[in-house]
Amino acid sequence: MSDKTFYITTPIYYPSGKFHLGTAYTTVLADTIKRYKKFRGYDSRLLTGLDEHGQKIQEVAKKQGKTPQEYVDEMADYAKKIWATMEINYDDFIRTTESRHTKIVEEIFDRLMDQGDIYKGEYEGWYCTPCETFFTETQLVDGKCPDCGREVHKMKEEAYFFNMKKYTDRLIKFYEEHPHFIEPESRRNELFNNFIKPGLEDLCVTRTSFDWGVKVRKDPKHVVYVWLDALVNYITALGYLSNDDQLFKKYWPANLQLVGKDIIRFHGIYWPIFLMALDLPLPEKIYAHGFLMMKDGKMSKSKGNVVYPEMLLNRYGLDATRYFLLREFAFGQDAVFSPEGFVERFNFDLCNDLGNLLNRTIGMVNKYFSGIVPKYNGCKNEADKKLEEETLKYIKKYEEYMDSYHLNNALEEAWKAISITNKYIDETMPWVLAKEEKTEELSSVMYHLVENLRKAAIMIRPAMETTSNKILSQLGIENETLISYDSIYKYDLLQDDIKVIEKGEPLFVRLDADVETEYIRNEMKKTGV
Ligand code: ME8
Ligand code: MG
Repeated sequence: MSDKTFYITTPIYYPSGKFHLGTAYTTVLADTIKRYKKFRGYDSRLLTGLDEHGQKIQEVAKKQGKTPQEYVDEMADYAKKIWATMEINYDDFIRTTESRHTKIVEEIFDRLMDQGDIYKGEYEGWYCTPCETFFTETQLVDGKCPDCGREVHKMKEEAYFFNMKKYTDRLIKFYEEHPHFIEPESRRNELFNNFIKPGLEDLCVTRTSFDWGVKVRKDPKHVVYVWLDALVNYITALGYLSNDDQLFKKYWPANLQLVGKDIIRFHGIYWPIFLMALDLPLPEKIYAHGFLMMKDGKMSKSKGNVVYPEMLLNRYGLDATRYFLLREFAFGQDAVFSPEGFVERFNFDLCNDLGNLLNRTIGMVNKYFSGIVPKYNGCKNEADKKLEEETLKYIKKYEEYMDSYHLNNALEEAWKAISITNKYIDETMPWVLAKEEKTEELSSVMYHLVENLRKAAIMIRPAMETTSNKILSQLGIENETLISYDSIYKYDLLQDDIKVIEKGEPLFVRLDADVETEYIRNEMKKTGV
């Protein structure tokens, strides 16, 4: 195994209901980055899991007539099943009710109390149950939760507080010394200028109004605030403070922590401060992605516009669904789901651009060379040369974008390479070369087409492994070196007798736009309440 490690995490999800397509985005993004890093030779590790404590979960379980533990056990099975159908290649799935986690949360809380970072006081404030968040009077918007707009209720209780003030200067210094700690930059600036610099309030880190949580060892009528409980999952999962902390030594600090924009405040402020208090290094980067929106705003059951990943997977397959998500989200921005948009991506990008290139290529290699890919013999004309130069340029940009986690831009570059390869067919007109018996030039065109499809298969591999495998196997490419990332810049590697298959199954079958947009719209309506 490589000694270059890469540790990437997703948030741990609240199992308060089914996961919609927006929540699935974080996981698909994390999985694709993990696969890319592995492809590039990193010993990469992906953590995901469930955030199972808190009042909200207790209430949902009660409504269903279950104990919280019964309820979260069922939801953990559900979550693992859905990630399996989306081929999420996680290495560990942490549940905050597991003893490997709860024991360490108790331990961490004790330590922070012993060293004086946590102290006892009294809390009076407004609590939003769905968000599990306390607000001060001034933080409320029209008397409602500033995050979700729902009702809040007043609470007064004896509570423990974390001394945030003590760490504010250190956090400011860290932000200044690590300008790329939080991405995108706009979120970083917002956190830094609006929340951190004006000064932090101490954070209430226990509750007594319910008991579904980790109890404070020395004062068990208090349970640890879900966010303190949840955030430390990233290190408890590695065995931090346990008898076996090899993974922790190997993988911490994380290279990339992915979160949605709604929880960047917790990850950009409290999480680094908890780590400082524990005397641990901070992650290299925290990246906040945007939200998946519908044309009429947020997804919600009451609007009947929720999209569940299962519906898309069952009808259009996993790769089309993953491609849509990865392509539609610009770095840090919101993305919009519409049935039309989904069908367009499917038909234009996947069927026309990629699928047809493969079909045309296989058809021609069969027709002109009985399926045997001609050997590389350099460039035979200007078009070949131009194709090589431009393709390599797009690959380079693809790589830069992948390395900086701009996956939509990276896929865009891959599609530029696919698109110029289609254009190359139109320009070189192989059918004319065949008619004029220009065998050398025709060989060169066929070689370049197969080779560019190989490069496309490598570029899309982290996002769409099944499609990548289909392309390679239809082209008769089996040799490991030809599938390795490092071979992507080489043009002269296909020198064995590679034989394309006789007639390939289409990668993607063109959708009838009217029928399918209608289908998706109806499925969405069924989710309404
Ligand atoms: O926040 N589009 O869990 P969660 C994109 N348990 N992403 C979305 C989204 C949408 N429409 N809706 C939600 C929690 N998300 C905590 C995390 S981590 C220590 C604790 C994202 O189940 C959201 O931003 O409410 C978050 O990153 C993730 O889904 C899980 O949200
Ligand atoms: Mg949430």
